[in-house]
Amino acid sequence: MTLYPLDIGAPEIVVRALTKRFGEREVLRGIDFSINAGELVAIVGASGGGKTVLLDHLTGLMVPSEGTVNVVDHTKPDTPMVDLNEIDDDRLDEVRLAWSIVFQRNALFSGTVFDNIALWLREHAGMSEEQIARRVRESISAAALDVDDVIGKDRDSLSGGMAKRVAIARAIAADPLVLFYDEPTTGLDPVISAQIHELIWNVHHRARQGETHAAGKAKRTSIVVTHDKDLLRRLGPRVVMLDQGRVVYDGAYEQFQHSTHPAAVEYLRKMPELHGREA
Ligand SMILES: Nc1ncnc2c1ncn2[C@@H]1O[C@H](COP(=O)(O)OP(=O)(O)O)[C@@H](O)[C@H]1O
Ligand SMILES: [Mg+2]
Repeated sequence: MTLYPLDIGAPEIVVRALTKRFGEREVLRGIDFSINAGELVAIVGASGGGKTVLLDHLTGLMVPSEGTVNVVDHTKPDTPMVDLNEIDDDRLDEVRLAWSIVFQRNALFSGTVFDNIALWLREHAGMSEEQIARRVRESISAAALDVDDVIGKDRDSLSGGMAKRVAIARAIAADPLVLFYDEPTTGLDPVISAQIHELIWNVHHRARQGETHAAGKAKRTSIVVTHDKDLLRRLGPRVVMLDQGRVVYDGAYEQFQHSTHPAAVEYLRKMPELHGREA
């Protein structure tokens, strides 16, 4: 399977007038923003503020009440963006070949680390067992884990930090162009969190499989839903802040720190220790 990278800065995901209601409750109220190829974007905001709901729309897991999410199909070079809500399931599967999602609770299935990482490759990558075994080992190693120590471990015996790394290793194994992370450090202690920050950074900048990187082409695009301020400080991403279902800040982290929007001030004021415990 060949994936075609975009030029750096070309639109990867375009969200227009996105509204989501659950019954009477309007969680997203007209969201507009685009994510461009090669960007590292953090989506921040209060707990319960709609970050995961927004992420679920970006990945086609939820259907908008109103508005659109347009994305690139990386399996076809030079084709127009597709509306996630208009395409059929086969096309959606195709679009998803270029994506990996690291879920908040990791979504590892019962079985070994090897099984968890190999499954997607067996189903989608058209690789031999030998190639799969090699890719699994490379991915575990890229997630800064000791391959021989971890590969045969059962999901249920992994610590929180290790399970997160395995989830990231599984994401890397698919060699995606776009990575989505939902709260990758929530519930992890500061030392482990710092290692996860570094891992997200390394994965973002890591060359893809067998790629002799073409000039002007984006490597990866990373979208991180988080309320971890240390992550922002370390990775210095573009920050998109949600408040009351709207985007209230969209720009560089350097400026975000000086934002005078009440939601940003409140967010930046809160003690980091409290954040780790929020679900
Ligand atoms: N499937 C759903 N049905 C009804 N309400 C939902 C659903 N998913 C999320 N919500 C509500 O949407 C709001 C935003 O949730 P969420 O996006 O998970 O917040 P967070 O910013 O913490 O990720 C919450 O009030 C939540 O209860
Ligand atoms: Mg959430």
